[in-house]
Amino acid sequence: MAKSNSFSCNACGASFNKWSGRCDACGAWNTIVEEAPLSAGPASKSLGARRGAPIRLTDLATEEAPPPRTNSGISELDRVLGGGLVPSSAILVGGDPGIGKSTLLLQAAARFAQAGLKTIYVSGEEASAQVRMRAQRLGLADAPVQLAAATNLRDILTTLEAEKPQLAVIDSIQTMWADNVESAPGSVSQVRAAAHELTTFAKTRNMSVILVGHVTKDGQIAGPRVVEHMVDTVLYFEGERGHQFRILRAVKNRFGPADEIGVFEMTGGGLAEVMNPSALFLSERGQPSPGSVVFAGVEGTRPLLVEFQALVAPSPHSQPRRSVVGWDGGRLAMILAVLEARCGIPFTGLDVYLNVAGGMKVTEPAADLAVAAALLSAREDAALPAETVIFGEISLSGALRPVSQTENRLKEAQKLGFTAAIAPAGGKPGADSGLTLTRMGDLTAFVGEVFGAG
Ligand code: TYD
Ligand code: MG
Repeated sequence: MAKSNSFSCNACGASFNKWSGRCDACGAWNTIVEEAPLSAGPASKSLGARRGAPIRLTDLATEEAPPPRTNSGISELDRVLGGGLVPSSAILVGGDPGIGKSTLLLQAAARFAQAGLKTIYVSGEEASAQVRMRAQRLGLADAPVQLAAATNLRDILTTLEAEKPQLAVIDSIQTMWADNVESAPGSVSQVRAAAHELTTFAKTRNMSVILVGHVTKDGQIAGPRVVEHMVDTVLYFEGERGHQFRILRAVKNRFGPADEIGVFEMTGGGLAEVMNPSALFLSERGQPSPGSVVFAGVEGTRPLLVEFQALVAPSPHSQPRRSVVGWDGGRLAMILAVLEARCGIPFTGLDVYLNVAGGMKVTEPAADLAVAAALLSAREDAALPAETVIFGEISLSGALRPVSQTENRLKEAQKLGFTAAIAPAGGKPGADSGLTLTRMGDLTAFVGEVFGAG
């Protein structure tokens, strides 16, 4: 039989029939590895050769009660899950090594156990004593969680079969080893096989499973990407080194809204919930300074204020620098182009740095106007009034497009002591938020109003 697709990328899981230095699918270097074929045997014969069992069919009208969810009591986590943990669900928690995944999941396991779920925490990375010590440090030593330090998937499944827990945490999927797959733990085929075994086990045994997956930049081990399609919910745990706070972000959720975020702070006693993240993200803001603009954003269902900071300076290079942290570089280029083409404000010969304060990542196009304002403010060396928030999407024509949840954004701004807002014209009028709201139809009007005659 012709062998095909026997190479795959450790970063994104794409398959190829020959090796190459760079993955065509995700662009990563040195991540393509040869895959051992799945254990030979029945698989080599066509499935049609032997008859399977008939499957029971149902119609769409069959009544299905909403799943009974369990709340951990960590509200930032429960909200990101879509309102608690759904029975028999499979969840992937991905993140950089050292970001706090094990800490978060040990805390979550303890709280779910205290809420009445029979919970097993399997660590493939640390010895039970280490996990126990961490639990003590987190003040969770009394939680009824059962621990195991194991990596052999067959043993783990046998144990889960016998113990019948309602929740199992597997930390991490890259350390699991399925003895029916030939390649090394952490390889694409191992990670895929282990995730498949664990998720199907969870579905059929009424157990929820949380898989921890390390995101790896060097591609030495397979990343969580390989597993994303197998699970119901994909959460990423993000944060910047040197910053205390961490964001748990739902990027896929079959049982709730995606894009929802939970905000945590890493403290000496583990992860603490941040109930008012806007206050946290704005806490380092000092006197109004050129280039600083507060954006009234929305993450999932929750409004979130963040500060954009821009620096614009004459460039010593022939190719001026464009450097962005926390925002999309392509989007920045677009806004610079619109400012030049529609408002006649060029950035040629100028280095541009744009940063979201605190290390937050913003993906909403609604931040366009705040970014434009930060760039102009930096370029003109003129600070904007400190009590003003800004939001709105910019189109290529220079028009400002209304964005969703205006009311929510304004309410949050008012709660944090802002007195004025600049937003696009059109859209819903919105209830009176107590803020002085200025609505504008296009970027030229905005430039004229805020920075004089542009
Ligand atoms: P960890 O949960 O082990 O990260 P991951 O599982 O994602 O690799 O967290 C590691 C970091 O968290 C470590 O550098 C120490 C820090 N930490 C605290 O600051 N406070 C705590 O209470 C704990 C348990 C960890
Ligand atoms: Mg860990």
